[in-house]
Amino acid sequence: MKKSTMKTDTSVSIGKLNLKNPVMTASGTFGYGLEFKDFLDLEALGAIVVKGIALEPVLGNRPQRIVETASGMLNAIGLQNIGVEKFLSDKMPLLARYKTPVIANIYGTDVKDYVAVAERLADSAVAGIEVNISCPNVKKGGLQFAADRKAIIKMLGGIKKVYKKTVIMKLSPNTGNIEDIALLCEDYGADAVSLINTLVGMAVDLDKKTPVLSNIYGGLSGPAIKPVALAMVHKTAKRVKIPVIGIGGIMNYRDALEFIIAGASAVQIGTANFRDPAAPVKVAAGIKEYLEANKIKSVKNLIKTLKYQ
Ligand SMILES: Cc1cc2nc3c(=O)[nH]c(=O)nc-3n(C[C@H](O)[C@H](O)[C@H](O)COP(=O)(O)O)c2cc1C
Repeated sequence: MKKSTMKTDTSVSIGKLNLKNPVMTASGTFGYGLEFKDFLDLEALGAIVVKGIALEPVLGNRPQRIVETASGMLNAIGLQNIGVEKFLSDKMPLLARYKTPVIANIYGTDVKDYVAVAERLADSAVAGIEVNISCPNVKKGGLQFAADRKAIIKMLGGIKKVYKKTVIMKLSPNTGNIEDIALLCEDYGADAVSLINTLVGMAVDLDKKTPVLSNIYGGLSGPAIKPVALAMVHKTAKRVKIPVIGIGGIMNYRDALEFIIAGASAVQIGTANFRDPAAPVKVAAGIKEYLEANKIKSVKNLIKTLKYQ
């Protein structure tokens, strides 16, 4: 049999970023990337998205902060992080040794803070930022901005002035209409949107009659949220022209391909990393094999190809 000479193209573009494949790590599930270097080839990833970074270090919530659920997990970490200065001095120089683009997930307690973190990252080796307006586990910052149209407009205006590389807005499934917020982000200059962040959930300790999490509520992630995420990605991709990054319960390459066919230009792997730290590279390899087996030249040819019965 004649051997195929076709070269499979797994690359995708997100704003100004060119990724060698559409698979990224989801913020908060992959530390600052370096912790995982012994478990997988960091250069086999499309991009590394690091833990949410704020202007100042944050300790996060008291334990208990994570609990396993029937089909996923609840977390209420509370955006623990080392702060932007330490990230730039201790982590980024080591991360910059890898060819993989690094995307910094950022957050703040007010719009000014978000803009200040973006500004501080502007001249660093960070390739793009993902703006978290969707964390359900903190009292200030995160979710309060998720559906606040005025704050989003102000935030994007401020960020775009100081940050010229790729800006991704990370959206919440917990408030109103996610497609409308995606459209607003597009109108005000976002290069891409990523969705979904976790869904608000809760666990009760029946013996103690207390909440399991110290924060009472946490964010649900993992296989349980995949159908919700898929529907939101599909609805959003129909409304916006900018790339949509699909997140939520992606455990293997088949899940990832479902998101891509439904409209995602790239995907992020989160909870799966807790079960198998090499999951993101396995997903990337699986996508490539699928393309080869089905003689599909480029992964771009699969984006938004859902057929309707
Ligand atoms: C332990 C944990 C920490 C997280 N921390 C962040 C964070 O700092 N910033 C953020 O935008 N999302 C954070 N997330 C949300 C994930 O990036 C992702 O959107 C969500 O978990 C859904 O994807 P999954 O089902 O593949 O985990 C966190 C999720 C988990 C489980």
